[in-house]
Amino acid sequence: MKERLQKILARAGVASRRTAEQHISEGRVSIDGKVVTDMGIKIDPAQHEICLNGKPIQLTEEKIYILLNKPAGYVTTLSDPQGRPIVTSLLTGIRQRVFPVGRLDLDTEGALLLTNDGELAQRILHPSFEIPKTYVAKVSGRPSGEALERLARGIELEGRRTSPARLKVIRETARFSLIEIIIHEGRKRQVRKMFAAIGHPVLSLKRIAYGRLQLGSLPSGQFRIIGRKEIEKILAGR
Ligand code: URA
Repeated sequence: MKERLQKILARAGVASRRTAEQHISEGRVSIDGKVVTDMGIKIDPAQHEICLNGKPIQLTEEKIYILLNKPAGYVTTLSDPQGRPIVTSLLTGIRQRVFPVGRLDLDTEGALLLTNDGELAQRILHPSFEIPKTYVAKVSGRPSGEALERLARGIELEGRRTSPARLKVIRETARFSLIEIIIHEGRKRQVRKMFAAIGHPVLSLKRIAYGRLQLGSLPSGQFRIIGRKEIEKILAGR
């Protein structure tokens, strides 16, 4: 994200914004080796080397944690060769470069955590943490109790058994059922494949909780910044 040069210098803690302006006008600041004296210049500090008195400045970015209600139709990668919308385009006003923790399919909606804290992301994604993820799946038809029990015990999926899951029927109609499912793994399209395996394909899928962190009433496409306490809710959700 582009910012004014004096603001970047102030954020790096090397000077107040006013003193930074002075440094710029005195020709002490360079971008990629070229001295700049233009006060209005806007650049992306992640893309360039900024030096003050010949020394590169270090930007320590503040850690940020965001809970987004991902709409269907958005990809959770940071760019898409097919030009489909990316989730980070929904984060208006967020200056930090964040990335999604794990993924959700293009057509899955719901709770997605984004952060610039690589260490925490690794902890959350590490299989040893086994953080439960709760989904509501709208599936075609009415799966039998026996079929749901099979999913709960674990089924063979692409040569590997799924770990035990918890399932609860929320609603049933003649054409579809709403089923809450809690899994501890993050295999690609896992929930969709599990229901497909019992002959009840998923019609729509939403993640409603990450550990004990609930999506709640956050509207689709909206996000909120979450604090350390809520992060603990994810980590304590085992
Ligand atoms: N399982 C799926 O099938 N899709 C998701 O996006 C997440 C879990």
